[in-house]
Amino acid sequence: MKYNFDEIVNRENTASVKYDLRVELFGKKDVIPMWVADMDFKTPDFIINAIKERTKHEVFGYSIRPKSYFTSIINWLKRRHQWTVQEDWISFGPGIVPAINMAILAYSNEGDKIVVQPPVYFPFFSAIENNNRTLVENPLVLKNNRYCIDFNDLEDKLKDAKMFILSNPHNPGGSVWTKEELKKLGELCVDNNVLIMSDEIHADLVFSEYTFTPLASISEAIANYTVTFIAPSKTFNMAALSTSSVITSNKELKEKYDKVLDTIHVGMGNVFGTVASEAAYNQGDEWLDQLMEYLSGNLDLMQDFFEERIPEIRMIRPEGTYLVWLDCSELNLNDKDLKDFMINDAGLGFNDGRMFGTGGDGFMRMNIACPRQIILDALIRLEKAVNNLK
Ligand SMILES: Cc1ncc(COP(=O)(O)O)c(C=O)c1O
Repeated sequence: MKYNFDEIVNRENTASVKYDLRVELFGKKDVIPMWVADMDFKTPDFIINAIKERTKHEVFGYSIRPKSYFTSIINWLKRRHQWTVQEDWISFGPGIVPAINMAILAYSNEGDKIVVQPPVYFPFFSAIENNNRTLVENPLVLKNNRYCIDFNDLEDKLKDAKMFILSNPHNPGGSVWTKEELKKLGELCVDNNVLIMSDEIHADLVFSEYTFTPLASISEAIANYTVTFIAPSKTFNMAALSTSSVITSNKELKEKYDKVLDTIHVGMGNVFGTVASEAAYNQGDEWLDQLMEYLSGNLDLMQDFFEERIPEIRMIRPEGTYLVWLDCSELNLNDKDLKDFMINDAGLGFNDGRMFGTGGDGFMRMNIACPRQIILDALIRLEKAVNNLK
């Protein structure tokens, strides 16, 4: 079956964060919203059908996650990422950010140092700071248009740290960490007795020229220090169903996480998340392959457009994720003016690079998971606004 990613779906007035918060966030409705990381494509039919099928039962009492749910996750990880996982390694998370917060509570104490790699997904900062842990930065380095790890600095920062939160693939930089990079950082963490929280929410969204490696698949020693966070939410556009998995082969780490999950009493999940997740992992291969091809086409269009028509803005072409990091520093605007320019001159609702911490100044993050026509409209708006600056 050929899926139609060109279809424009009107998401206004559906309580959509991306669309219906525009006035609150950007001060006006007339911006193309290309910020929060969900997609403007319909959630695939096999997921909708599974939910519809469940509604036919007409009773939504307390529910469990059946064996078939776990089997779908195990098979997906094996099939897509060559990672062999056991059912008793998998815990529930009502989303990845809440799960990372629970992991911080489970594995560290107030004041403990936790390392992150900015510019990075900003809820990592709040997870550390809201829990009164100490944020330690190992800033990424931009080399030949790719974000890379400064291993010397990382080694230094890990010395007295308790935990390390990794984004693989990296949001917003777009790097899909190679096996060699992961092995090196994993071994550094093991040597320094630092637990690694590997946020692999974007794992399925990797372009065909690159290979995703689950950190915990590299060696038993690294797996023993790793807790992995995965979800079908980004991959299949079902973030509102709040269902993710927390995976570790280390029994002690699993018990500690489960204890926090039980204490907060959020382990029940929701029946639609369970049903949708199982359908996604069992039936999602073909849809996902077509999605990645479409997104790659969006990237090609953007790359040509920026090079030919807006050379003042440099696009960091991502190896994975549908988020594009744009270097706007050549526009010579300060951060307030750059934000203002994007909203009021260009009419675009991007994420302000500053939110992603060190290294984010002068950058904007653009979500390209939308029909190509919207990308084109956005680029034309941007070109006009940049030309007006001259
Ligand atoms: C790296 C990363 N982790 C987690 C999330 C969000 O996870 P959740 O909605 O499951 O809390 C995002 C969303 O953009 C993300 O980019």
